[in-house]
Amino acid sequence: MTDTPNYQPAGQRTVTVIVDSRYGSTLALARAIAGGAEAESAEVRLRRVDIQPPEFSVDDSRADFQAAQAFYRELPKATADDLVWANGIVWGSPTRYGLMSTPLRAFIDEVAPLWRQGALIGKVGAAFTSTGGMHSGNEMTLLSLLLPFMQHGMILAGVPHSVPELVATRKGGSPYGASVVTGFDGTLGVDENELAIARALGARVARLAGQIIPEPASVDMAAAQAAR
Ligand SMILES: Cc1cc2nc3c(=O)[nH]c(=O)nc-3n(C[C@H](O)[C@H](O)[C@H](O)COP(=O)(O)O)c2cc1C
Repeated sequence: MTDTPNYQPAGQRTVTVIVDSRYGSTLALARAIAGGAEAESAEVRLRRVDIQPPEFSVDDSRADFQAAQAFYRELPKATADDLVWANGIVWGSPTRYGLMSTPLRAFIDEVAPLWRQGALIGKVGAAFTSTGGMHSGNEMTLLSLLLPFMQHGMILAGVPHSVPELVATRKGGSPYGASVVTGFDGTLGVDENELAIARALGARVARLAGQIIPEPASVDMAAAQAAR
């Protein structure tokens, strides 16, 4: 196993956080997740996805949009290497019609060659999102963000109820991942419980990433064996 280029030694707390965000609430979660991982001595890469104009249905005159984009656009763009490098991967986007956003989905599609290589098998994956509404896709989006990890053969991490803020929260944050409920006009913002849950998720992914041994194995080789 050691001579495969995808092999990462066990015990490395390497975490990549990949985010899509327009008004900054999903970005705030990403930064809290990264901070939580760093607090557990993880090496962290915070990355963005590519956003192509036009940005339909986004109000670019909003002050929170402009403030968020000033930070967001300076982040390095995520690459396949960022996934191979990390033992823990956390990705998230704003909810779009109860699903992840198209730019994040495009990135996930782009890295399909990693699936053939089995490069992510055995790594830890977790998710985060932001919705306008309380009951309009928050948890569904988290679940859908977790599904590609399973296709990659990864191990899913959520948030246990031993995190006190998960019991206390009155809007975002769930056992399925970190989340925000911003209100339909964005005015509810991101609260302290939501940020604490995000930090707890980042810390948990870091600790788990330090325990796992990734198991890269070629999907093509498995198919050849099965055909024999
Ligand atoms: C095209 C589009 C679809 C959306 N779909 C949903 C949805 O299904 N449910 C929901 O609660 N909010 C929906 N929203 C609102 C966003 O999820 C919300 O603005 C989110 O909190 C923004 O995250 P951000 O601050 O990281 O940009 C939608 C927004 C857009 C532009």
